This record gives sequence, C-alpha cells and structure tokens, in this order.
Amino acid sequence: MGKEVVLTGLRSNAEFHLGNYLGAILPMVELQKKHAGQYQLNMFIPDLHSFTMPIDHGKLYEQTHQNLKVFVAAGLDIDQPDTFIYRQSYIPAHSELTWILSCFSNIGELSRMTQFKEKAQTFTEFIGTEEFNPTKGKDMTGIRRQPISSGLFIYPVLMAADILLYGAKWVPVGEDQRQHVEFTRDLAIRMNNKFGDLFIPPEDNAKQMEFAGRSEPVRIRSLRNPEKKMSKSIEDPAGTIVLSDRPEEATQKVLSATTDSAGVINYNWEKQPGIANLLQILALLSEKSQDEVNAQWVGKSSYNELKSSVAEIVNNFLADLQEKVANVNDEVMMKKLRDDEVAMSKIADGTLQRVQIAVGLRPKAPQASQ
Ligand code: TYM
Repeated sequence: MGKEVVLTGLRSNAEFHLGNYLGAILPMVELQKKHAGQYQLNMFIPDLHSFTMPIDHGKLYEQTHQNLKVFVAAGLDIDQPDTFIYRQSYIPAHSELTWILSCFSNIGELSRMTQFKEKAQTFTEFIGTEEFNPTKGKDMTGIRRQPISSGLFIYPVLMAADILLYGAKWVPVGEDQRQHVEFTRDLAIRMNNKFGDLFIPPEDNAKQMEFAGRSEPVRIRSLRNPEKKMSKSIEDPAGTIVLSDRPEEATQKVLSATTDSAGVINYNWEKQPGIANLLQILALLSEKSQDEVNAQWVGKSSYNELKSSVAEIVNNFLADLQEKVANVNDEVMMKKLRDDEVAMSKIADGTLQRVQIAVGLRPKAPQASQ
C-alpha cells in the first residue's frame, strides 16, 4: 500500500490572492510540516481550468510559472521525495479521464454547483456594460453578449479527474470548492458501484475538516463586500489582497475594510461578516487558533485597533513572501517540475488504463495485437 495522497490545485487565471493563500497554500504547507514523510503531497496548477472564463492567453504560461514560485516561497519543501508539483496540461490523462467521467455525470448535478451558478451570473451581470471586459478593462465598449463556456459548466468533472487519477483521499480547499470535492466523491462512488473498485473516493466534508484540524472551512471574504468571497475577479480590486500588492497598498485596503455599525467585535459570519473576516485573517496569519484570537478581541469596541493589527500582520506577511518569491531558485524548481510531471504521468496513466479497461475501451487481459 502506498501512502495516502493529499492533493490540491490552484488555477493560474490570475495572480494568487490572500484567499488562495489562506484557503489552500498555507494548509498544504502546514500539512507537509506536520506529517513530513507520512503522506504523498500533490500540489499542482490546473492550467486547463484557468480559462473557463476569458483571460489574457498571452499571460497564462508565465502566470503559471509565477504561481508555482509562490508554492515554494510559501514554504512548500520541494526537496521532500513524496511532494510533487506539476501542471495539469502536461499530463494528458487528466483530459482523457475527464471525457470518460463526463459521460457518467449528470447535467442536473452540474447545474446545481454554486460556483457555476455564481460565475455564470457574474458574466451576465456585465453584459452590455462598458465595464465588461475581463482581460482589458473598460476599453472594449460595444460588446453586448459574452456566452458562458461549456468549460465553465463541466469544470467540476475535470476537477474530479484531477483528484481521482491519484486516488487522493484528502483535498484541502477553501469553502467555495468543497461542493466540488463532494461531487467528486459522489461520482467516484457511482462509478465504483457500476464497475467495481475503480477509484478511491475523497473523504467526506466532515472527515476533511477533521484532517485539516478545523471546525469550519476557510472562507476569506472581500474586504469591500464581506458578503462575497475574496476572488480573482477584476471588479473588486479594493476588496482583494493580491500577493504582489505593495505592502502599503494592502495596509490601506485593510484599514478601509467594510465592517458594520454594531460597535462591538463579535465572530459572527451572518451578522458581522466584515469583522469575522478580519478575525479569521488574523488567526490564520498569526498561526493562532480562532478561539485564541476571538478570546483576545471579542467584546472590544475598537474596530480601528483590530484593523491596525490585521494591517500590520498582512503588511509583514506580504513583505516577507515577496522577498522569498524573488529568491526562488528557478532552475531547481523547473527541474523538480519536469521530473514530477514524468512521475505523475506514470501514476495517472496507470489509473486511466484501469478505467479504459473497465469501460470497455481496452481489452480485459492484455492482447498481443493491442
Ligand atoms: P481556485 O483556483 O479558484 O482557488 C484555489 C484554492 O483557493 C481557495 N480559495 C479560497 N479559500 C478561502 N477563501 C477564499 N476567498 C478563496 N478563494 C479561493 C479555493 O477554495 C481553492 O482551494 N477548481 C479549483 C482548482 C482545482 C482543484 C483541483 C482544487 C482544480 N482541480 C483538484 C483541488 C483539487 C479552483 O477553481 O480553485
């Protein structure tokens, strides 16, 4: 029996933001530190997932490269033999398994995916306004319609392939992606019922939380509009801290974060999402538990004091990370990337072959002429 697999992926449609870092990168780095050598860790860039919405394709390859550097700068130890970094599109089995899985996924379940519904809606909200242009800003007036790609609809199936190819039981992701992991689990169980033990399904949400040592998923909200998640979308620069933001710029964003008029600090996502968001950022960046941070702040009345503390920790975090990104040894990283892509291709091809046999695309016993 090989080691259990922990796997996560982060798209490179844009630079990473603080939500990506706290929701997926930091948990992976912490898991690696906590369980060194005990698990296989796959941390990859789902580059094929990166243009389900329009992007500037001229920047994609370099963005992928930059984002990989952030993994290393964030503390992912790529010298560990059980840690693998790779790009999804360099392992063709991802695309091929996606097609097979899509024939066992239902339109109904895919239509219920919150991410699809939300993104499809963002798209239509901008239709016909001069603001609509995800890649160039405001200089493309006259565009009246932008169709929603079928890639956006089917992207959870590609994500399922990403997970099932490597038999990953543990998938640390932020709150917004939990539903897709559950979809993957349902799909794997459905396929296993039909074809026998084909896949290792990822564990359910409750177990994933336990594994991550959390009582709730990470949800970093927009600083401007705390009802919504912090996201890479272009319409919310003031609410989003991008990892390349100048530290002073990020400080300003935190100091002008939207809060509420209650006048007392509470950790309550429904009633005071802006404050809860700041408390969560503070806990994660200071590596303290949420309870510890809440015990220090809840009941106090100075929102400014809280904002200043968060601003300071964000400022220090960015300055430190940016220095580390600049010092990543590119040659070493690229060599590791290429080696890992070869190693992961072998594993992925092995899974794909089992699936091909199960669905009847390949003979059950190897035949000389095949
Ligand atoms: P993506 O690229 O949108 O986001 C990457 C990771 O960052 C987390 N995240 C957040 N966490 C907390 N608060 C936020 N505001 C926030 N915004 C983003 C996401 O939950 C995610 O963990 N489909 C995935 C990428 C993917 C993947 C996979 C993930 C493709 N294949 C296989 C895991 C396993 C996506 O679009 O994430």
